[in-house]
Amino acid sequence: MTFLFNSDARRGAIFADAFEKALPNLPFSVDASQVDPDAVRYLITWTAPADLARYRNLEILFSIGAGVDQLNLEDIPDHVKVVRMVEDGIVRMMQEYVLLATLALHRNLPAYLHQQRQGIWSPMPQKQAEKRRIGVLGLGMLAQAVLDRLKPLGFPLAGWSRSPRDLDGVTCHHGEAGLRAMLPATDILVCLLPLTSETRGFLDNDLFATLQQGAALVHVGRGPQLDQAALLEALDSGHLSSAMIDVTDPEPLPAEHAFWTHPKIILTPHIASVTQPESAAQAVIENIRLHLSGRDPIGLVDRTRGY
Ligand code: GLV
Repeated sequence: MTFLFNSDARRGAIFADAFEKALPNLPFSVDASQVDPDAVRYLITWTAPADLARYRNLEILFSIGAGVDQLNLEDIPDHVKVVRMVEDGIVRMMQEYVLLATLALHRNLPAYLHQQRQGIWSPMPQKQAEKRRIGVLGLGMLAQAVLDRLKPLGFPLAGWSRSPRDLDGVTCHHGEAGLRAMLPATDILVCLLPLTSETRGFLDNDLFATLQQGAALVHVGRGPQLDQAALLEALDSGHLSSAMIDVTDPEPLPAEHAFWTHPKIILTPHIASVTQPESAAQAVIENIRLHLSGRDPIGLVDRTRGY
C-alpha cells in the first residue's frame, strides 16, 4: 500500500512529514518512478497523470484543490473514489476573500480607487449594510462558511443552490424559479458555484439583466462560468456598478484584456483561496482513516453531479 504525492516538492515535504507522524505504516512517495504502480492505493494530484491506468489498485484520487473540474472524471475508472480538498485553510481563505470583496464593493472601493488615480476627492452616498442584499450562488461547504462569516455585518443574506437547502439566517432559494426570485433582490452577487456543464457560461447577459440595477459581482467560482463580454456590457451600460474577479478564462488573461484596466473591476490572480499544506495533510490523513474504517471520505465527489 502506497500513498503517491504528485505536486510540488515544498508541499510534498510537509505532507511527508505529517504522514510519517500520523500513518507511519503507509509508505509515502513523491516520486512516481520509484513506486510499484500496483502498490499505489492513494494518489493526490491536481490533474490526472496520463498514465493513471497503470495504478490498477488505486482506491482514492485526491484533488489537491477544492475543485475537480480540472480532472476528466470520465477518464477515471469507476471504482476509484474522487475526493475534493475540504480543509480548514481553504475555508478560512475563502471567508477572508469574500469578506474583503463584499466590503470593498459595499464601500465603493473600485470607484474610489479610480478617483484616486485621477486626483478626485469626492465622497459618494453610502448605503447601510442592512440595505445591501447579498446573494450567494452555490450553497456548498465554502459558501456556507462564507455566509457564516458575513452574518455579523448585518447584510441581508440569501443563497441559491440546485436542490433545496435550509440555512439559519439565510434566505435559501433553489432551482430555476428560485434563481429568478433571488437575482432581482440582490445587490452583491457572489459566485461560488463548482464548474460543471450546467454552470459554464452561467454569469451571462440574461443573469446580469435580472440583477438589481447597480448590483455588483464577486466571482470566486471558475473562469469559464463568466461571459466576460456580458459583464463588460453590464458595467459599461451602468446596469452593474462594479466587480471583483479572482478567476478568469484563460488564466492569466492576455495582456490587452479589458479587465486589467477597467475602472469598475478589481482583478486578483486566482488567490482567493489556496490549499494550505499543513491543514490539507491533516484532512487527507483523516479521510484515509475514514476510508480504512469503511466510511466515505469527506469531499467525496458525486460523479453524476460532477462535484
Ligand atoms: C482553487 O481554486 C482550488 O480549487 O483549490
